[in-house]
Amino acid sequence: MNEHAATLPTASGASGLTILRGLLRDRSLLTALALMREHVGPAFQITLPRFRPAVFVGPEANRQILVTDRRDLSWRYPTDPVVRLLRQGMLVVDGEEHDAYRRMMEPPLQRRNVVAHIPAFWRYTDLLTATWRDGEVRDMLVEMRRLALLILMGTTFQIDFAPHLEQLWRPILQLLEFISPGLWILWAGMPPWPRQRRAMAAMDGYLRRIIAARRAELRASSREPEAGDLLGRLLMAPGMDDELIRDQLLTMLIAGHDTSTALLAWVLFLAGVHGDVLAQLQAEADAVLGAAATPPTADQVNSLTYTEQVIKETLRLYPPIHVGNRRALVDLDICGYRVPERTRVMYSIYLSHRDGAYWQDPDTFCPARFGRESEEKVPPFTYVPFGGGPRNCIGAAFAQIEARVVLARLFQCFDFELLNAGEVRPHMGATLEPRPGVKMRVRRRRPCAG
Ligand code: HEM
Repeated sequence: MNEHAATLPTASGASGLTILRGLLRDRSLLTALALMREHVGPAFQITLPRFRPAVFVGPEANRQILVTDRRDLSWRYPTDPVVRLLRQGMLVVDGEEHDAYRRMMEPPLQRRNVVAHIPAFWRYTDLLTATWRDGEVRDMLVEMRRLALLILMGTTFQIDFAPHLEQLWRPILQLLEFISPGLWILWAGMPPWPRQRRAMAAMDGYLRRIIAARRAELRASSREPEAGDLLGRLLMAPGMDDELIRDQLLTMLIAGHDTSTALLAWVLFLAGVHGDVLAQLQAEADAVLGAAATPPTADQVNSLTYTEQVIKETLRLYPPIHVGNRRALVDLDICGYRVPERTRVMYSIYLSHRDGAYWQDPDTFCPARFGRESEEKVPPFTYVPFGGGPRNCIGAAFAQIEARVVLARLFQCFDFELLNAGEVRPHMGATLEPRPGVKMRVRRRRPCAG
């Protein structure tokens, strides 16, 4: 480590008071982090009892954490709830074990295999909206979670989740609550609440049943699993027993649906706030899809360029994964600051995406900044909604194609009127989600199938 490396600054005196006031006013850790960035700088240490992470903001630190120094940083904190829930899931293991799972699960999530799911993304959107009555009010946070679950289970696992949705709804929310920031930050190893233990048992029971059923099916047929069939591939992989497969399935289920839920709900919220954006999204859906009731081709999905800009800008302002979490395995020097071994290291995606040093009007929603003609250029690793380096999001292609198809279908068929704009705030749950929800009146624009 560089002996001239500086000690990480902390909030103290006047800046400490300002941050505390902001925290009490908004009752939001996000506000506290933004104030730390403003008053302390792009690298700082949080100094809560037993929770003293080093937090970094900006492209240089992101690159160092995600690429250059990644071997000196591990993911796994055995006492963190997400590790206790996902056990040996690929999100929470390191080294060769991680790389082996990643090699197994990458092919089904590659772009060419995700494109084959376009008809399913479309069909599930229709299945969901068939339950909407013209003119009624729905919470888009709830609706998009339903849809994201149906899609993830239906495509990557090839399982019809609709019959299980109601029964597993509460357990899923309770598991998300378990891994969200909470008391465990101050009390490492805090046991789950009884309702969370029951939720884990319910989920485990369900996952074990689907693993057993698919294993029996594969034994009975000589057919190889399809390229996009993640569960089938895991079952065929050498060395994967049912417990390890359970860990990977739960990882995909949690990481793959909660993020898409937040993204889709935030896009609908922002389209509800910005009427011109909604109109342009609808105009693009009309121009590309017309009145079609059949799924778009991959080329049509590619030509939804405005929808893509809106998705990118939404991910900038409200990145579902707003912070990445690591542990220093050795003493490190990150951007000139001393980070002793065993320190919790965080790279803040949210703050990098809103840093005035790199973005023009960082808090303004402006999809055009991602347009081809945009003059705005930020250095690599400033915009990292899917992380970066070898541990970047394995589902990035899936999430982006899914979002485009779902949103184009929704805007082709519906008008949305936002009813609770004033009360929506970003909430740090397992992801950064719009709370208390996105209440919208839905009106049909045309009689889409469904
Ligand atoms: C809008 C949607 C999504 C966003 C914003 C997102 C964001 C991210 C980010 C930022 C990371 C890296 C975290 C870190 O550095 O610690 C990550 C990793 C991961 N994501 Fe996503 N994700 C999304 C969708 C998905 C989907 C659809 C899947 C699965 C189908 C998925 C599965 C994973 C997994 C398994 C990892 C761990 C990768 C590894 O450690 O090698 N994500 N995601």
